[in-house]
Amino acid sequence: MDITIRPEAPHEHRTVEELIRAAFWNLYVPGCDEHYLAHIMRSHPDFCHDLNFVAEVNGAIAGSIMYTRSRLIGTGAERLETVTFGPLSVLPAYQRKGIGSALIRHTLPLVKAAGYHAVIIYGNPSNYVSSGFIGSSSFGIGSPEGAFPTALLVLPLSDTLRSSRGWKFYQSSVFEYSKTDAEEYDTQFPPMEKRHQPSQEVFAILSRSFVQ
Ligand SMILES: CC(C)(COP(=O)(O)OP(=O)(O)OC[C@H]1O[C@@H](n2cnc3c(N)ncnc32)[C@H](O)[C@@H]1OP(=O)(O)O)[C@@H](O)C(=O)NCCC(=O)NCCS
Repeated sequence: MDITIRPEAPHEHRTVEELIRAAFWNLYVPGCDEHYLAHIMRSHPDFCHDLNFVAEVNGAIAGSIMYTRSRLIGTGAERLETVTFGPLSVLPAYQRKGIGSALIRHTLPLVKAAGYHAVIIYGNPSNYVSSGFIGSSSFGIGSPEGAFPTALLVLPLSDTLRSSRGWKFYQSSVFEYSKTDAEEYDTQFPPMEKRHQPSQEVFAILSRSFVQ
């Protein structure tokens, strides 16, 4: 399978949001908000326009990666700039064929060249350990509340991370969106059935799990 990775073009916003909706629909909760998140992200000051890529297979978009700026704050108020990807999405028919990993692999050198200290995400470890992510507790990186969520994963890009402990991770405020606004935005897309499925319980378990 030939995968071409290239920047997303402005006229492709809707296509990419439809892709994101198809990838996330009913996966973590009944329905999904990630296409709305992508929509508001593009005009948010934390959005990394230079790291916004799509993956093309046979001339059609099959995957997308979007990044926002995030940060680590240390115990002495020292600050490290980091980035966070998400939504990262691959059309269901193309999943588990290496497209998600290829999008990560393509963007990592750009993230490093831009001087960010790490990529930090909330995600299912099984999707990301093969791309080099490790649990954040290994670096003493916790949530703003000082906990170590199992889903908080770090890909270090500089040694500065190792020089200190007690980091707290802050993602962009774009993630604090209104659920009502997300539901309203979804009405602009073709209706799809919201239903329960087992992957939502896996997600619920993971999002309540912490490392000691
Ligand atoms: C998660 C996602 C982006 C991964 O992209 P992908 O192209 O399907 O994944 P890849 O083929 O590149 O595989 C990446 C790794 O994840 C693993 N993986 C992928 N899907 C998996 C699954 N459902 N269960 C367990 N492992 C999985 C692969 O085995 C691979 O690891 P390996 O290199 O050790 O074999 C894609 O499946 C997707 O869009 N999922 C729905 C939306 C989503 O969950 N996005 C991420 C939110 S955190």
